Amino acid sequence: MTARPIRILVIHGPNLNLLGRREPHIYGTTTLAEIDAELKARGAARGAEVETLQSNHEGVLVDAIQGAQDRVDAIVINAGALTHTSYALRDAIEAVALPTIEVHLSNIHAREAFRHHSVIAARCVGQIAGFGARSYSLGLDAALAIVEGSARHGTGSEEPKGR
Ligand code: DQA
Repeated sequence: MTARPIRILVIHGPNLNLLGRREPHIYGTTTLAEIDAELKARGAARGAEVETLQSNHEGVLVDAIQGAQDRVDAIVINAGALTHTSYALRDAIEAVALPTIEVHLSNIHAREAFRHHSVIAARCVGQIAGFGARSYSLGLDAALAIVEGSARHGTGSEEPKGR
């Protein structure tokens, strides 16, 4: 059986399309297009496909998470401000039960109080925050480690769904 390549979905939430010119003292000067290109190249170097998606709309993000089920192996998500408010995203992550890594460019715990709490965190494998654009690369590495790890521990019949 030829397994398809590992596939990782990277999701960017509201306002992350403005990266590069949005509060560069907080979020840096790297654009979203540059981040996406770096993640695709990083994935390709490990034989993995990286899909990226940005939306300012909560429902589009929910649809993307639902659509990932049985199609991708893990999700990396920066939900932007929806991190702090969206039970719909939390429920979607829980529903599809894919390993999900939460990432943030800034250290949300060192900022305003409303950013300290993530409503999605409890449904994610873990959180990476505060490393600028590098948070995404670290998130991708974590996702690949999890997927490759579960593949290694499987017996063949226990391969992750859809592979
Ligand atoms: C962010 C942090 C959020 O609090 C904020 O609303 C964002 C970006 C980050 O990447 O640091 O939009 O998720």
